[in-house]
Amino acid sequence: MTIVVSMINWKGGVGKTSLTLHLAAGLATRHSKRVLLIDLDAQCNLSFLAVGLSAYVDHTYKKNGSTLKTVFDAYFDRKQAQPKDVILEKQVRARAGKIFTKVGIVLSHQELTLLDMKLAREKRSGKDHREETRFEIEKLSVIKNIIDAVASEYDYVLLDCPPNVNLVTQNAFFASDYYVVPAIPDFLSTVGISQITTYMDQFNQDYRSMWSYAGLPGAYVETKFGGIIFNMVDEYKGGPKDGHRQIMTSTASQLESGALFDNYITDGDGMSAAAQVNLPVFAFSDLPRAQQNAEKQATYMGRVVDEFYERIV
Ligand SMILES: Nc1ncnc2c1ncn2[C@@H]1O[C@H](COP(=O)(O)OP(=O)(O)OP(=O)(O)O)[C@@H](O)[C@H]1O
Ligand SMILES: [Mg+2]
Repeated sequence: MTIVVSMINWKGGVGKTSLTLHLAAGLATRHSKRVLLIDLDAQCNLSFLAVGLSAYVDHTYKKNGSTLKTVFDAYFDRKQAQPKDVILEKQVRARAGKIFTKVGIVLSHQELTLLDMKLAREKRSGKDHREETRFEIEKLSVIKNIIDAVASEYDYVLLDCPPNVNLVTQNAFFASDYYVVPAIPDFLSTVGISQITTYMDQFNQDYRSMWSYAGLPGAYVETKFGGIIFNMVDEYKGGPKDGHRQIMTSTASQLESGALFDNYITDGDGMSAAAQVNLPVFAFSDLPRAQQNAEKQATYMGRVVDEFYERIV
C-alpha cells in the first residue's frame, strides 16, 4: 500500500520543497522505494528543482505537456485525468547525467492559483444538501482520485504544498495519510506551529462529518500528524546552538510528545549549490562548489530520511 504524505507549513521558505525532493531521493536510494512527487505550488519550485527549469519549460510550454493543471481542468470538465498522461517518469535528476528510475513527478503550473480561485467559487447545486455535500467532497478529492488510481505503483506519494491553506492544499490534506511540518528554528516561525496542528485537527473533524452526512460508503480516514522536521539549524560543538536548541525545545513543549524528529538539517550553502544545478545534496561529489557543506547536509538529510522511513508507516 502506498503512504501519502503532505508537507505543510503556511510559513514560506522553511524548506517544504527542499525536503520533499530530498525525502524522495533518500527513500529511493537508501530504501529502494518507488516514490511519486506531486508539486501543488503555483511557484513550481519542486518542478524546477526536480527536472530542471529548461526541461520544465520545454514540457509545459513548448510541448504543451500535462501538469497538475490538466488534472484540475479535467475536474471542471467533469472528467477524470489519466494518471499516465500527467505523471512524468524517469525525469527526476539524481546525479550529473543520471535520473531516478523509480521517482515519478506530477509537475505544477503557474496558473494553479487561478484554478484554486475557480475551485473556491464553484458551487454546484444538488437536489438537496446531502448531494451538495457530496459535490463539496468531490471538489476536495481531485488529487486523491489521481493518487488512488496509481496507489499500487508507488510506495510513497509526497505532496509539496504551497505556503497557504487554500483548496489545493486542502486537496493534498484530504488525500494524505500523514502531514509533516518542516520548520526553521526562528522565533516567529515557531509560534504558529501548534496552530497548524489545531487547524489540521479541525479539517479532519469537518471532513469526517461531511463524509458521513453525504452518506458515502465507509468512513473518512483521518490524516495523521507525522511530526516536525527542523531545517536550517546552526550547530555548535556537534548539536544545535543554544538559541536554536531553546526554540526547538519550546516548540516541542507545545505539542504532543515525540512530535519533533530527533534528526534535523543544518544550515549551509550545500543545499543551494545543489539546487542551482538541479541536483539533490546526495550528489555532493558532482557539485561545482560547496561540496563540503553539501556532504554534511547530505549526511544529516540521510538521517532525516531514515527517521521518516521508521516513523511514517
Ligand atoms: N538547510 C538549508 N540550508 C540552507 N539553505 C536552505 C536549506 N533548506 C532550504 N534552503 C534554501 O532556502 C530556500 C527556501 O527553501 P524551500 O524552497 O525548500 O522552502 P519552502 O518552504 O518550500 O518555500 P515556499 O514556502 O516558498 O514554498 C531555498 O532557496 C532553498 O535552497
Ligand atoms: Mg516550496
